This record gives sequence, C-alpha cells and structure tokens, in this order.
Amino acid sequence: MTKKRLWITRRLSDATLDRAKRDYDVVINYDDTPGTATDLIAASADFDAIIPCHSELFSAEVVAQFSDRLKIVANHSVGVDHCDLPALKGRKIVVTNTPDVLSDATAELAMLLMLGAARHAVAGDRIVRTGSWDSWSPAFMVGKQVTGARLGIIGMGRVGRAFAAKARGFDMEVHYFNRSELPADQAQSAIYHDSVESLLEVADFLSLHCPATPETLDLMNPDRFARLPTGAVLVNTARGALIDEDALMVALDSGQVAAAGLDCFKIEPGGNPALAKYDNVFMLPHIGSATRTTRDAMGFRALDNLNDFFAGKIPKDTL
Ligand code: DGY
Repeated sequence: MTKKRLWITRRLSDATLDRAKRDYDVVINYDDTPGTATDLIAASADFDAIIPCHSELFSAEVVAQFSDRLKIVANHSVGVDHCDLPALKGRKIVVTNTPDVLSDATAELAMLLMLGAARHAVAGDRIVRTGSWDSWSPAFMVGKQVTGARLGIIGMGRVGRAFAAKARGFDMEVHYFNRSELPADQAQSAIYHDSVESLLEVADFLSLHCPATPETLDLMNPDRFARLPTGAVLVNTARGALIDEDALMVALDSGQVAAAGLDCFKIEPGGNPALAKYDNVFMLPHIGSATRTTRDAMGFRALDNLNDFFAGKIPKDTL
C-alpha cells in the first residue's frame, strides 16, 4: 500500500522520527525552524498529514488558503492555541493533540519553578557563580516556605491534577478553580472555589494550568493580582497569554507578589526583557514537557493519532 505523505515541521525525538520514517512517506524539517504561513500552505498541497508543534500558526487566514489534500493536523503539543479549530474543522481537517503524556513533566517543571521562585534560586545561583558570595547571616536570602502552605491551582485538568499530586508531597493545602467541580476521586480532597476571585484570596502560591483562549487572555490582571495574599508566589507553565506582564511587574514592585516562576511568556521565543531585572523571577524558556521520556511519548501519541485516522478510526485525541 502506498504510504501516506507526512510533513513533520520540527526536529522531533529520534525515536519518533524513526517510527515516522518506517510508517510514512515523511519529510522532516531537520533545519528545525518554525514553519511559516507559506510553508504550511505549500504543505497542504503536498501532504496528507502534518505533525506540527505549537510554533506553527494555523490561523483562519492561513487555513483558508489550504488545498484539499491535507486531511489531518496531528499536533505534537497538548495546547492548541496556535490552531484556529473552527477554521480547520470548517475545512474538514481533523485536529488532534497529545494530552496525558506530558502532565508529569510539566508538573515537575511547575514544582521546580515554585521552589526556585520561593527560595531565591536565581539570585542565589548568581552570587555563588560570580564569586560575589562574601557573607552569610541568619537573615540572608530568607525565602517563603512551601511545605504546608496554601496552593491555588487555576485549571484542574490533567496537568493541574498532576501538580496537585506533587504538591501534596509537600503537605500543601490544595485549592482549585475549574470550570466545574471535580468528582472526589479526581479532586483528592482539593478544595473547590466557584470563582477565580475566591481562589486568589487563599493562594499563597498560585499555579496556572488552564488553556489560552479568548476568555483566559490576561486572566491575571491588575484586579486579580490585588486579590492575592501579600507576598504570594505565582507560577506559570501553561501559556504566556494568561498573564498581563505589566501588571505582574507592578505587583512585584509593590511586594503583592513576592516572586514568580515563569516558563511561558507573551512573546516567545524571547520572553519579556523587562522581567530580566527581577531577581525574584525565575524564568525558563518554555521547556515544561522537555524530557526525553515525554518527548518520545508526545511523538508516539501524535503518530498513534495518525495511524488511527488512516486506519479509518476516530483518533483518540480528536478535538
Ligand atoms: C504543549 O504541549 O502545549 C507544550 O506547551 C509544548 O508545546
């Protein structure tokens, strides 16, 4: 049987690429540069399927120019804010993502950011590294204790729940806001709040785990920062769109927010240069799911979705 034509837009894990080469007539972008609108439009005429990352933008304008050949966009990401889903569905193009497999890796990174922000990881590392560590006192680099503190989670999907499970290892009191209250077996005693505002009032630590949608744009705005307990710590491993970064800086300046751990920014790649002056902001370059185990699992999940589709089944992760 003729193999289906597949375009892989970025350099995925070796195991993923080996499997793709075995099963598909695949073209891989070994240059690893993000696919442009022109690339995507051209690919829609040459390929039956694309495996993109969140770095490729499937806007309505781009999708409108697609040829009819492309049948499926099997994302190598759980987030799909780079895809205009109504536009793709309108062209009868199936869209899938890679849930579940990256929850632990992302939750691990959220934990790293929370601990690093709370305990001065950026400033501490720098003074040792630069040889400027010349004194010690009991008041030196005193941080905020995580163990036993109240944690607020916005978005109790798979990643939010994985983070809550890790936070319980630190005896944190877990509170959450979600579109709907979770059944007891998923909530695991986490305390539900029916509004973001109510959650913020108890969030000594706050971690964002909801998708970027028009409704969650600038979810953390000046009013909401003001509702946090003084000296709260903010963590974001979801999407940069969730935070009004200017408002965050105002909250950092006033001490309303004591520290932040950020893996996502409004502008990526690059981040926000204005945040660089804050020693109490621990920043990483969107690497939440970047472990070997998880990268393989994400690639395999995208390929599983393709295999299902070309076998005439509805892929498990169809959106
Ligand atoms: C995701 O899966 O959405 C991560 O942000 C990586 O793209």
